[in-house]
Amino acid sequence: MPPGADSLPVSGPASTAASAPISRSAAPVASTVVPLTQPAVVPIFQTSAFDVPDLDTLALLARGEAVGHIYTRDSNPNHAILAESIAALEQAESGAVFASGMGALSSIFLALAGAGDHVVIARALYGRTRQLAETLQQRWGLQLTVVDGVAPENFRRAVTERTRFVLVETVSNPLLEVADIGAIAAALGKVPLVVDSTFTTPELIRPCQCGAAIVMHSASKYLNGHGDVMLGVAAGSAALMQRLGEATSVFGFNANPFEAWLCLRGMRTLSLRMRQICHTTRQLAELLGGHPAVRRVHYPLLAGHPSRELAERLYPDGPGGIVSFELLSGGAAAVNRFMQHSRGIPFTPTLADVRTTISWPAGTSHRFVDPDERRGLGITDELIRLSVGLEPFDQIASELTRSLDLLRS
Ligand SMILES: Cc1ncc(COP(=O)(O)O)c(C=O)c1O
Repeated sequence: MPPGADSLPVSGPASTAASAPISRSAAPVASTVVPLTQPAVVPIFQTSAFDVPDLDTLALLARGEAVGHIYTRDSNPNHAILAESIAALEQAESGAVFASGMGALSSIFLALAGAGDHVVIARALYGRTRQLAETLQQRWGLQLTVVDGVAPENFRRAVTERTRFVLVETVSNPLLEVADIGAIAAALGKVPLVVDSTFTTPELIRPCQCGAAIVMHSASKYLNGHGDVMLGVAAGSAALMQRLGEATSVFGFNANPFEAWLCLRGMRTLSLRMRQICHTTRQLAELLGGHPAVRRVHYPLLAGHPSRELAERLYPDGPGGIVSFELLSGGAAAVNRFMQHSRGIPFTPTLADVRTTISWPAGTSHRFVDPDERRGLGITDELIRLSVGLEPFDQIASELTRSLDLLRS
């Protein structure tokens, strides 16, 4: 604690005598707390609003002619620093921060498209993203086209003159279909491409450098990387980020300063984590592919995966830490038994924790997709999604092998 900080006046009956200036006693400014030194780590600005000196300053801030914050739903230093960091990582002009990945996506839909406008999405998307697009279609009159596969030509053909944007994932959740972002952006020409790069992070690909207009992430996943934050981020041109920021303020998709702070801390180790995770995941995919209790493994660098050639070109060290696999038989009951055996790998319906976890897409991420369509997509009841963490390969491998062996006994 800085010298003198413990003697600062506190709010409450003792310090709010009638003659005392209430604002000073209740909220000491940072310069009083840290007179000579700077904190080595950005502090958490856990405040809902900021004291503005006067109306002249308010006018300057409102016109964007001075740097400062007024109200945390609109902006906060922790949001601003995280936004700058994600823009730098993505090599984009500007960034934005949201309460969750779905907050980022909602902001993108609401800022870029309105009733009667047309949006094109890939069929292989996170289930809730699909649900968001369909909700806007059914209730707000958005025109929607869902494109099979990731062939650039299919997206180009789906575009009309009312198309406001096209949305794809770099590597799809949960079957890891790889999209050629550069080729899709080139095929679309002026139509903005929005890319969900949650699975890949800027360590593996920078979509704006490949021609995408906006890249977004569920920062609840790898960017934070410790399983303790709900957050979304986006990057792109300053003009587009301003539009997203306005939607965020109006609809209230703003993040919590503490979560933005946590995410910034997590991002300090992003590079190291991604390197290790990619390496372990590749080894585990090979191990799973050789186990007799496994019918099929979805991992783009394995022989037979439809995206293999593209993945080798775009992600030579592997496209992140996810590998999905189907048990040989037994439906949901077999998955349940596998989970009961694999106590060292918890069933946690998220991904990108430091711990290795498993999830069951049919009942979690894709629960909201029509069951026939879900099966048509290849998301069977036997499909398990493994999110590889930072434990040593041997530890994860022995737990997986033991649990799979038990299924056969
Ligand atoms: C690919 C992808 N995009 C978006 C989201 C939504 O992010 P959030 O859970 O932070 O709202 C998820 C969540 O799992 C996801 O996997």
